[in-house]
Amino acid sequence: MSAPKRLFIKTYGCQMNVYDSERMAETMGAQGYVLTDKADDADMVLLNTCHIREKASEKVYSDIGRLTKLKNAKPDLKIGVAGCVAQAEGAEIQRRAPVVDLVVGPQAYHRLPEMMKQVDAGHRALDTDFPTEDKFEHLPKIRTRSAPAAFLTVQEGCDKFCAFCVVPYTRGAEVSRPVERLLREARDLAARGVRELTLLGQNVNAYHGTFDGESWGLGRLLREMAQIEGIERLRYTTSHPNDMDDDLIAAHGDCAKLMPYLHLPVQSGSDRILKAMNRKHTAEQYLRLIERIRAARPDMVLTSDFIVGFPGETDEDFEATMDLVRAVGYGMAYSFKYSARPGTPAAEKAPVPAEVADERLQRLQALLTVQQRAVQQSMVGREVTVLYEKPGRLEGQMAGKSDYLHAVHVHDPEGKAGDLVRVRITEALQNSLTGERIVS
Ligand code: 5AD
Ligand code: SF4
Repeated sequence: MSAPKRLFIKTYGCQMNVYDSERMAETMGAQGYVLTDKADDADMVLLNTCHIREKASEKVYSDIGRLTKLKNAKPDLKIGVAGCVAQAEGAEIQRRAPVVDLVVGPQAYHRLPEMMKQVDAGHRALDTDFPTEDKFEHLPKIRTRSAPAAFLTVQEGCDKFCAFCVVPYTRGAEVSRPVERLLREARDLAARGVRELTLLGQNVNAYHGTFDGESWGLGRLLREMAQIEGIERLRYTTSHPNDMDDDLIAAHGDCAKLMPYLHLPVQSGSDRILKAMNRKHTAEQYLRLIERIRAARPDMVLTSDFIVGFPGETDEDFEATMDLVRAVGYGMAYSFKYSARPGTPAAEKAPVPAEVADERLQRLQALLTVQQRAVQQSMVGREVTVLYEKPGRLEGQMAGKSDYLHAVHVHDPEGKAGDLVRVRITEALQNSLTGERIVS
C-alpha cells in the first residue's frame, strides 16, 4: 500500500468555513488523504477562503504567492482554493494564479473526489455551481472528528440582501437541511463523544425544516436535539434579529441545555443607516427584542457585529450606534470598518473618509472593550459550568468554555477533555477566566 498523502487545510473566516473544512477533510480522507498541520509537509494545500471584506480576500492572493514558492521547490504539490473567494472569483483565480490546480465553491465540495481525478490527470478543475443535489447527502456519512464541542451546519445561504454583504451571492439562497438528517448527524456526533453542539447557519434562526409534514423552526429543532443522549449543551449562530420568533425566545427560558449566550448582530444603532443597509428593523425594535430575550433568560450574554463608516454615516448616526451599545451592554462584539464589496448595492455609494471611519472604529472598540471586561469581571465569584476541551498551557490545567462561552482555565490534574464540571470563577484575565473546580 502506498503511504497516505498529506493534506493541509487553511481556514479563513467564519465558523461555517470551519465546518466545511472538516467535511472536506473527511471527503479527502476517503480519497486517501490524512491531515497535516504544516503546509511544508503537504502533498496538497487547500485554502478555504472568506470574501466578506476586502482584507480577507486579499490574504488569499498573498498566501497563493507564498505557496507558489513551495510548489516551485516541490512541483507535485497540489493547490486548491475553496470557499467564498473561490465562488466569487474562481475564473479570476485561475487566470491570476496558474499554480492553482483546483477551485471549488462552498456548494460544490462534495464533488472533490471527481475534481481530484482531473487534477491527478494533470488538468485544472473548477466547480462553482450551485448544484440542485444536497451536498451533505453526498459527503461521507460517518463523521470522523471527535471533540467535546462540534459544529453542525443546519442552514446555509441568505435571502436578506443587506446592502453591504456578499453572502447572498457567494453562499446562495437560504436552504435548510431536513430535520431527520440533522438529528441523525447530531446522534452520530453524540455517539462520538460530542457534548456540545453549535448549530450553524448564515441565518441560522431562519431555519425552517419539515418533519412528518410539519414545519419546524429553530426552537423546535433545538428542543429535539436537547433530547439526544450525550448532548449537554446547545448553541447556535449567526442570527438575524427579524428571525427571533416567539418559540425560539421561549426556548431560552425552558430548554436548560440551550446556553445563555446569543450572537445577535445589529450592525448600526442609527435607523437611517439601518434602512440604508436594508436591515428591515429599527434600533428600537432591536432593543425591545433584547428585552424580551432577557425576560426569558435574565443572565443572557449578548454579542454583536458592527459596521462603522457605512456610506452616508454621519457623526450623529455613529453616536446612535454608541448609544445602542451603551443601552445593551455587550459581552463581546466584532466591529469592522465598512469595506465596499463588488456587486453589492452599497458599493455604488460614496464612501466615508477613511480617517473618519478609523476614528469611529477606535471609539467603538474602546467602548466594547470596557463592556467586555465588565462582563468578564462580573463572572468573578460566580459558579459556572465548564466543558473541558483540552489541557491548558500550565501543568495539570484544563481549558474549556463556560456556559457564557468565556474561555476558562482550571487547575484540575484529574480532569479530561469532555468533562462537564462546576467551577467557581476566581479571576478575570485579559482574554480568559480562571476558576476552581467545585467538588461536591
Ligand atoms: N464591510 C464590513 N463588514 C462587513 N460585514 C459583512 N459585510 C461587510 C462589509 N462589506 C460584517 C458584518 C457581518 C459580519 C460577519 O461581517 O458585521 O455581521
Ligand atoms: Fe449578510 Fe445580511 Fe445575510 Fe447576514 S443577514 S449574511 S449580513 S446579507
